[in-house]
Amino acid sequence: MTSGLTQWLAGEAEATETRGLTRTLRVREAGDAVVDLAGNDYLGLATDERVIAGAVEAVRTWGAGAMASRLVTGTTRLHDELEAGLAAYVGQPDALVFSSGYLANVGVVTALGGPGTLVVSDAHIHASLIDACRLSRSRIAVAPHNDLSAFAALLAERNEQRALVLVESVYSVLGDAAPLVELAEICAAHDAVLVVDEAHGLGVTGAGRGSVAAAGLAGGLAAAEHVVVTVTLSKALGSQGGAVLGSGLLKRHLVNRARSFIFETGLAPAACGAALAAVKVLESEPSRPAAALECTARLAEACGVEPPAGAVLSVPMPGPREAVAARDACLARGVQVGCFRPPSVPDGVSRLRITARATVQGSELDRACEVVSAAVKEYS
Ligand SMILES: Cc1ncc(COP(=O)(O)O)c(C=O)c1O
Repeated sequence: MTSGLTQWLAGEAEATETRGLTRTLRVREAGDAVVDLAGNDYLGLATDERVIAGAVEAVRTWGAGAMASRLVTGTTRLHDELEAGLAAYVGQPDALVFSSGYLANVGVVTALGGPGTLVVSDAHIHASLIDACRLSRSRIAVAPHNDLSAFAALLAERNEQRALVLVESVYSVLGDAAPLVELAEICAAHDAVLVVDEAHGLGVTGAGRGSVAAAGLAGGLAAAEHVVVTVTLSKALGSQGGAVLGSGLLKRHLVNRARSFIFETGLAPAACGAALAAVKVLESEPSRPAAALECTARLAEACGVEPPAGAVLSVPMPGPREAVAARDACLARGVQVGCFRPPSVPDGVSRLRITARATVQGSELDRACEVVSAAVKEYS
């Protein structure tokens, strides 16, 4: 007899298939020759020899795992060095490393929020921040994307004493930027904390140091006291992990209150070593972010869209089936691009998500531009 679970799963699979929304996993083989314009390794550091060496040395010195929560024995000298290196690079007083960017977002929102707090989130924030809102048990209000007057009105109308505003510096699906200076002003005027997720800004915008630094909101300035930054180590830094950056007092609070920090094993040494090496590469090669932006501009021109704020290019498609067909056409010609469809797009618009990489240049970039341009024209 078929179990209830099996029947339910089969029904769900059929419903997803009927809506044209089935997702499948594509296994990437070692040495895959496909040009990857779907991942988030914007600077090509995941395969950089210096970054790999950082991971290998860390494993040899510290072992394969962190062995325990950061609060028990899972904080090594390497974690400490990584936090100092990250904070110095993005111009924040301090940093706390988590084992993913997802958990960093969950940690900061749950530790700063709670009953008696209003969280105002942009309509396009990443799923990790949406889940963080739900877990925080705060009252949640959603502002239309980048709508400054809506943010101001929601903060002004609140009864709660405390408030958080959640935005991304470069939006992960749309690829556009948040108006950080204006948002910081609104938050200061309404005594709210501005949490900026720099997952797609770090390593790309602000000559690599991110959009918060570029907006003059870093460096422990009084004007930036209410600005908190989160990053992932898993994109431009080519490693794995995440971090929250802000004051020493904020770090202390997170160490004591952020459940996604307290109740997880510390970030693996290999990921720490790789991320620290990547930060050092960025310090020594300040031209890498510009190379990623040049690649973005070429791809944007090929797709007939405006160059975006960072390295994420959003190309709207007529529907989910056309988006999938265009993605498959690119892959058949050796170029992998991302394809976002409902429900993972907040505005319901299916699109190709094409990401640039500093190391895709010359004839490889020419060919990639030709392939994506042809697919976009055919299925638009
Ligand atoms: C905006 C944003 N925030 C957070 C995350 C989560 O980061 P991680 O992959 O390190 O968990 C992502 C990753 O997809 C992201 O795009």
